[in-house]
Amino acid sequence: MRDCIVIGSGVAGLRAAIELKRLGVDVAIFTKDKASESNTNYAQGGIAVCLSKNDNFDLHIKDTLIAGAGLCNKKSVEILVKEGPDKVKELIDWGCQFDKNENGELNFTKEAAHSVNRILHANGDATGAEIERTLLNKAQKESIEINEHYRLIDLLVENKRVIGAKFHNLKENTLNYIYAKSVVLATGGYAAIYNHTTNPSLTTGDGIASAFLVGCTVEDMEFVQFHPTALNYKKAPSFLLSESMRGEGAILINDKGERFMEKYSKQLELAPRDIVARSIFSEMQNNLKDHVYLDISHLDSEFVKKRFPTIYHECLKYGLDITKEPIPVSPAAHYTMGGVKTDVDCKTNISGLFACGECACNGVHGANRLASNSMLEGLVYGARAAISVKAYLENKNFSSKTDESTKLTGTTKNFQTKIKNLKDRIFKDLGIVRKLSSVTDLFECSLSSFQTIKDNNSIDIDYRNLLIIAILISRSALERKNSVGAHYCIDTPWPPTDKSHVSLNIKDLEKWT
Ligand code: SIN
Repeated sequence: MRDCIVIGSGVAGLRAAIELKRLGVDVAIFTKDKASESNTNYAQGGIAVCLSKNDNFDLHIKDTLIAGAGLCNKKSVEILVKEGPDKVKELIDWGCQFDKNENGELNFTKEAAHSVNRILHANGDATGAEIERTLLNKAQKESIEINEHYRLIDLLVENKRVIGAKFHNLKENTLNYIYAKSVVLATGGYAAIYNHTTNPSLTTGDGIASAFLVGCTVEDMEFVQFHPTALNYKKAPSFLLSESMRGEGAILINDKGERFMEKYSKQLELAPRDIVARSIFSEMQNNLKDHVYLDISHLDSEFVKKRFPTIYHECLKYGLDITKEPIPVSPAAHYTMGGVKTDVDCKTNISGLFACGECACNGVHGANRLASNSMLEGLVYGARAAISVKAYLENKNFSSKTDESTKLTGTTKNFQTKIKNLKDRIFKDLGIVRKLSSVTDLFECSLSSFQTIKDNNSIDIDYRNLLIIAILISRSALERKNSVGAHYCIDTPWPPTDKSHVSLNIKDLEKWT
């Protein structure tokens, strides 16, 4: 029986495992795909950190709290901002190459709702890939065991204490029971349950769904952040066009060629993300279009190519040249603020179970995450989770169990059509602008589908988790009495007066049925 398993290999999971190893804890990582295939790897814009001469802790804290629309936990935010710089310096010591200016100093850029330039980036617009590379290298150097293609099915809990996790080993087609004294969930968010998303397809809320099923409290699941500018062109994927393009001067125009953000916010294209996404939605509805345009073609083309090489090349694949023409974009699900409720030490309400990164809700983002705060959260709270695990393991008695593996034989019924239809519906009914009647319908229909499949052991886990997350988002949306931050419902009042949190637990399921 291991001391600890970490589930997930993005920034939070890797950082947790590295710290655990440093603390002498016997740790192994289990991850759903290849180790590098995480949301972290696709992050473009960067990592916000208070390291520039013009910045200070109070400013970064204030910007984060304002973006969070009154729902952040101030203590979590202070920890993020104050512990962040050392974590980023450490990452640089481990070989992370952030872009520098002509004087060889770190080059900070700006994104929406930041009052100063504080975003570090790497290789122009491939920051996440550089962070992932650095952490994977470090994990390898430290000989941390990484088990790839292990898809989490259930957490194993005995007497309200976690004892490991059950996985589907996708390569071997086996069911694996991996026992551990403690578990760190770092499984990412749930933006890929939307049919338009900037995320890779694996971010389906597996960790959150499994935690909910074993009695973890989940919080504020209705807060789903839509990135304002994902590519929307023919059959191209909803590829992210980084907010840092607007930070460098890109503008938004509608199909009549009008720069429309001046109608919606004094901060124009750099208003908080929820405001920009809703403004675009409104323009699309008013003009009966499914997109607006992002235009950076007025900037020097060599600068644009160098600053945004990934975006430039990706758009060119579809015949779109960002240096020459406006690019069709629309909002897509991007980041999920809700998750497994934790305290600032990443503890959940199940003994031995810790959560960090996007799957956790520790109040750091409130109702709307400040751009580029998530990489920093992964570093800071990943390390904090490890410290909590170490303390948990001390002076306790643990029973011993040996891992088990069985070959899977039967076939699982394929739910692909149901999954696709539900994802379409989730985008429509739990999207940027919500209607009470549609949210209620989706809640009732997901709940009734879940009741019919929940006792079926051979059920498609994707479908099960999709239903659970749809239930949790819609129920939380119904519980919230005001529109606030990323949750906007045309039937509930704005501006918000009620700033409470929505917590849900498996016991609530009985009340709803
Ligand atoms: C972006 O590059 O626009 C994404 C940054 C973020 O979501 O934090």
